[in-house]
Amino acid sequence: MSQPERIPIGSDHAGFELKEKLEAVLTGLGYAVDDVGTHSTSSTDYPDYAHPVAAQVEQGRAKRGILLCGTGLGMSYAANRHHGVRAAVAWSPEVAALSRQHNDSNVLVLPARFLSETEATKILTTWLATPFEGGRHETRVKKIEPEAP
Ligand code: RB5
Repeated sequence: MSQPERIPIGSDHAGFELKEKLEAVLTGLGYAVDDVGTHSTSSTDYPDYAHPVAAQVEQGRAKRGILLCGTGLGMSYAANRHHGVRAAVAWSPEVAALSRQHNDSNVLVLPARFLSETEATKILTTWLATPFEGGRHETRVKKIEPEAP
């Protein structure tokens, strides 16, 4: 039997409650959740959680990761500083699917203050299940990393 996929997940205080709910969804689907925090609604700094999740993807220790903050923006800025990380803020299942099909996103970022639990769950399950289309999109994805100056 193969090992369950381990998925790192992190949030700041704004995403904490939704993170806890999505962890239950992931566990129910058979994933091994690696929760890097935060662990309460006390005010905290989103980069402290974005970097540990993105670093695991950058280093190949995890295939994909999940981040949550209020808007999704701060988390995406920090995660996308990591080489090879393509962190996509998704506010609908359609955007989540396209981020996989066209952009091969490897980190899902959820704007927790603007999503219900039901919406976030649908976005998450869509993102997990949608493959990259490759082809012309692969050419474009390869051009994302800037040339050395
Ligand atoms: C926290 O108040 C909020 O700024 C943070 O969760 C996030 O939205 C930042 O991008």
